[in-house]
Amino acid sequence: MRFNSEHGGNTLEAAQALGVAPESLRDFSANINPLGMPASLKRAITEQLGLAERYPDVEYRALHIRLAGHHGVLPEWVIAGNGETELIFSLVHYLAPEKAMLLTPGFAEYRRALTRAGCEIKDFALEEAKGWQPDESLLAALTPDLDCLFLCTPNNPTGLMPDKALLLKVAERCKAHQIALIIDEAFLDFMPEEQGMVPYLARYPQLYVLRSLTKFFAIPGLRLGYLLSADTQTVQKMRCQREPWTINAFAALAGEVMLDDYAYIEATYRWLQAEQPRLFRQLDALQGITVWPPAANYIFLRCDVSGLALQRALLEEHILIRHCKNYPGLDERYYRVAVRGEAENNLLLSALRKVLSGKGDAAG
Ligand SMILES: Cc1ncc(COP(=O)(O)O)c(C=O)c1O
Repeated sequence: MRFNSEHGGNTLEAAQALGVAPESLRDFSANINPLGMPASLKRAITEQLGLAERYPDVEYRALHIRLAGHHGVLPEWVIAGNGETELIFSLVHYLAPEKAMLLTPGFAEYRRALTRAGCEIKDFALEEAKGWQPDESLLAALTPDLDCLFLCTPNNPTGLMPDKALLLKVAERCKAHQIALIIDEAFLDFMPEEQGMVPYLARYPQLYVLRSLTKFFAIPGLRLGYLLSADTQTVQKMRCQREPWTINAFAALAGEVMLDDYAYIEATYRWLQAEQPRLFRQLDALQGITVWPPAANYIFLRCDVSGLALQRALLEEHILIRHCKNYPGLDERYYRVAVRGEAENNLLLSALRKVLSGKGDAAG
């Protein structure tokens, strides 16, 4: 079986490799809310199918006002995108950094966007011995020759939230050296207690906060994300010069209706509060597996059973997890699994017990 996807969520290719229908796979490789898209959004879309027959507002005024209101910031500080991914690429394009720093392991699209812009990349390696978390040594690495730093909070794939005090020191250091600080908060909505860096936007005009709505509201096929920054000049430039209508009418509608669906939001918190610690504990109890305590809706793990290719073995059980061997700084022992609903998580756990007991020798 040949399956080597560089992204999560590639059930199509995995199913082809296995010779089965994509629907027969349980997808733990993309970190999407298992509650599915909100019923309120389904209703709004079906009631307003006629939107497809008109161009959306090219300025997305109602959407920007709604997103700004959600965060209590000015609409001029917001630009929405066709998923957060569009904004990663367009922000890099408009900032045009010559030298950037990335933490490894980290989300792959920052590197792709920077490479495409011809930017030199300096890696800052997170270390397993330090629990995969950045520490004060990051501050010393932030030298004035850098133009830009990407941080992912919580980090993907490690699932860890860096210390808030450290983040603020990083922001101060970036301000002092005029380094654009791009904070990716794609998974922050899964942490109800966390406000993230939005409250600090006014204090740090070179701070850019990226958000995704595709994970929390389970709309990766519809796609919606946004950028928040007090750097109104850059936001304005991005708005004026972007390709028109990159956000389709239904995605724009989604942004206007989903954030008010408190019943869905509360149900998501209840699911995650129950399933995230339970799945973590049960994974932690498995011999041959090391897990790191998750902050959001996915769990990073290491498999120490020599000779066991965990992704491939689980695929035979019709379960797709994300291998992490293509992340700089990791190797074939590392994986990431999404937290799903109770019944699906139990399927993952029993499949893991089966493949762990069946093959290889536990090493460490
Ligand atoms: C850390 C991180 N940021 C951004 C994205 C992209 O989000 P979107 O689907 O909104 O483009 C992803 C998707 O996997 C991600 O993991």
